Amino acid sequence: MSLTPSVRRPAVVAALCAVALALTGLTAAAPSPERVAAHPYQDPSLPVADRVDDLLARMTQADKLGQMTQIEKDALAAQSDLAAYRIGSVLSGGDSTVSPNNAQTWADTYDSLQRTALGTPLGIPMIYGIDAVHGHNAVRGATIFPHNIGLGATRDPALVQRIGRAVAEEMAGTGIDWDFAPCLCVARNDRWGRTYESFGEKPELPTAMATFVTGMQGATLGADPASVLATAKHYLGDGGTTGGVDQGNTELSEAELRSIHLPPFQEAVKRGVGSVMLSYSSWNGVRSHAHKYLVTDVLKRELGFSGFVVSDWAAVDQLDGQTGFTGAEIATAVNAGVDMVMVPHDYRKFLTLLRGEVDAGRISAARIDDANRRILTKKFELGLFERPLTDRSYTSTVGSAEHRALARQAVRASQVLLKNEGGVLPLAKNAKLFVAGKSADDIGNQSGGWTLGWQGRSGPVTEGTTVLQGIRAAATDPSRVTYDRYGNGVDGSYAAAVAVVGETPYAEMRGDRPGAMGLDQEDLGTLARLKASGVPVVVVLVSGRPLDIAAQLPDWKALLAAWLPGTEGNGVSDVLFGDHAPTGRLPVTWMRSASQQPVNDGDGKTPLFPYGHGLTYEERPAPDPDPTPEPGDKACTAQFKAGSSWSGGYQAEVTVKNTGTGPLTGWSVGWDLGGSTITNLWNGSLTVAQGRATVRNSSFNGTLAPGATASFGFTANGTAGTPAPGCAGT
Ligand code: GLC
Repeated sequence: MSLTPSVRRPAVVAALCAVALALTGLTAAAPSPERVAAHPYQDPSLPVADRVDDLLARMTQADKLGQMTQIEKDALAAQSDLAAYRIGSVLSGGDSTVSPNNAQTWADTYDSLQRTALGTPLGIPMIYGIDAVHGHNAVRGATIFPHNIGLGATRDPALVQRIGRAVAEEMAGTGIDWDFAPCLCVARNDRWGRTYESFGEKPELPTAMATFVTGMQGATLGADPASVLATAKHYLGDGGTTGGVDQGNTELSEAELRSIHLPPFQEAVKRGVGSVMLSYSSWNGVRSHAHKYLVTDVLKRELGFSGFVVSDWAAVDQLDGQTGFTGAEIATAVNAGVDMVMVPHDYRKFLTLLRGEVDAGRISAARIDDANRRILTKKFELGLFERPLTDRSYTSTVGSAEHRALARQAVRASQVLLKNEGGVLPLAKNAKLFVAGKSADDIGNQSGGWTLGWQGRSGPVTEGTTVLQGIRAAATDPSRVTYDRYGNGVDGSYAAAVAVVGETPYAEMRGDRPGAMGLDQEDLGTLARLKASGVPVVVVLVSGRPLDIAAQLPDWKALLAAWLPGTEGNGVSDVLFGDHAPTGRLPVTWMRSASQQPVNDGDGKTPLFPYGHGLTYEERPAPDPDPTPEPGDKACTAQFKAGSSWSGGYQAEVTVKNTGTGPLTGWSVGWDLGGSTITNLWNGSLTVAQGRATVRNSSFNGTLAPGATASFGFTANGTAGTPAPGCAGT
C-alpha cells in the first residue's frame, strides 16, 4: 500500500498514521518513513528516466492526453472533472483568485485540487501554474517587487536571483509550483503594453537577468521544497513586433531575430529552465504557436531544451483567425512542438478534438509520448510525486519582513536619476516639502499591472508603503510634509514640491500606446500648479516605460524614474532623501518624442536620455580632520553675507579668504541649508547632499595668494538664516 502523503513530508505522515491506527486500537509496526512504492515510478530512489518509462508504459491514452491539458481553475465544471479527464495541470489566470484572498486559502485550494488529481488510478500529481511576475502578485499581502523594467535598471543579476528565490518561497507557501516567469522579452518599442515586463531593450539585459530562473528553481530543480518550476517567455520575439503591437508581427531577418531575441532563451535553457511559453506574436507572418522550425528545430533540438513547451492562454484558438479552436489548430500546435495546451476553458471539447487528431493519425503517438515524457520528467524532478501538497512551513514567508526588505533594496537600486539641477536632490529631511500627484499615495499605481488582478488597478489594492508614506516616515517632522493630489495649496514657503505622476495600471494589449505617449491631463494640471508656485519641482515618474516628457522637463529641477516599484514605496524615498544615492541606469532608451519610436541604443537617433544613462549624488567632501591651521597650512575662511530678500526667498554672497601662508589652488565651502534650497548659484559649482550645500571654486577663482579673496553668490528659497560656512583649501 502506498501512503499518499498529506503534506510534503512523508515521515510526518507516517507518524500521524501510526497515531491514528493506535487510536483505533489497531496496532501497526512502525511504518517505514519512506513510502512503500507499489510501482517503479513511485520509487524516488530510481532515476527519473526510469520512472518516466515505467509510468508511461502504464498510462492509457486518456492519461496521456490529460497530461497535455492545462485548464483555468475556475473553468472546472466540477472538481471531480480534474480526475475524470485526467487533467495534468491547472492555472490561475490574471483574474483567477480565491476568497478570502490570503495565502492560507490559496494553499487550501491547491491542496484540495491536488488531492483530487492524486485520486486517479496512477495518482499523477497535477502541476499548478500562475503569473507571479513581480512577486506572488495574485495573493493579497504578498511582497510585490519592482516589475522587470525596474530590475533591469539595477544591472544586478544576483539581486534578481535573490528575488526569484523569495518569490519561490512565497509561492511554495501557497502550494503553487509553477511560475509563468521570467518574461525574457526584449522590448524594442516602448509603445508595447508589456514593455514593463521586459528587463531591457538589448538582449544583454534579459540574458543577464535569467538568473531569476536559478533563483526560482534552485541550481537543481526540486532540490528543496521551495523549488518552483520557472517559465522562459514568450518565445520568440514578442517584444519586437512592428509598432510595438501586442501579439503582433515581428518582421525581422532570421539573423536579427536570433541576435536580438534568442540570447535570453539560450541562457535560460543553460540554466535548466523547466518550461517555455510560446508567444502569441508571429515571425514574418507565421504564428509562433505554429512554428515547428522555431519550436522544435531551434528551441528543442538546436538549443537542447529538454523541458516542456506550454502554449499561451487560448493561443491555439488564434491560428486559423477564427474564434474558438479546432482539431486542425490543435494538431498544428502540437506538431509544431507544443507539449501542453493552456486551453484554458473547454477542456471536454479540447480532449475530444485532441483524441480525434491522434486517432486519425494527424498527431503521432510518438509526439504524444514525447510531450508526456517532457511533462512527467519535470513533475518528477520537481518532487511532486513525493511532495504533492503545500509545505506550510513556507506560508509565513508570504509578505514577510525579510522579503519586503529585499524588495525595498530592489526599489532603491532600480531608481534612475535622470536630472538633478542645482543639486536639488537629495532633499533635506527637515525641509518643508509639498507632495502631489495621483501616484504619491497609491499602492495600485506604484505596482502596475498583474497585481491582485490581470490589469491591476489604482487604490489600496494590498498591504505596502506608498511613496508618500515613505517620505513622511523619513522626514524629521512629518507635519512639515503636505500632500495634495492635485497640488492645491502649494506656495513659495516650501523648499521643494515632489510630484509623483505617471501611468495607471494596465497589462498586455490594453497597455499599447499607438498614439501619444505623454502625461495625462491630471498630471499636467498638477505640475502646472506646482510650477506656478515657483517652488523647485522634483518629479518622480511611476510608469512602466519611458514617457514623452521632453516638453515639460525644463520646468522640473529633478526627474527620478521610479518605474513600477511595487509595495515598498519607501525604497523611492530612501533615494529622494539620499539615504541611498541613486545607482540605476536606463534599461531602455528614453525617447525625445513619441515620433522617435522605436528608439533603441545604436540606431543613430538622438534620444532625450540614452540607454545606460543615470546620475548619482556627488559625494560630500570629507570634513577637514584638523580645522586648526598649521603654519604654512592651506587654510581659508568663508564669510556669509545675506543680500536682498523677498517673500519665500533671498540672495546671498560668500567671500572666501586665503588665511594660510601658502597659495591655494582651490577651495570648497560647506554649510547646512537649514531647509532652504538653492535655486541659482554663480562663481562656483554646487553639490547638495543630506541637506548640506558644498560649493567648489570655479576654474577662474580657485587660485588665491595668502590674504587674497574670492566670492560666489546664490539665490535660495526659504529664509537666509546665519550659516557659518566652513572652508577647506587645496
Ligand atoms: C497571458 C499572458 C501570459 C500569461 C498567460 C497566463 O495572456 O500572455 O504571459 O502567462 O496568459 O496568464
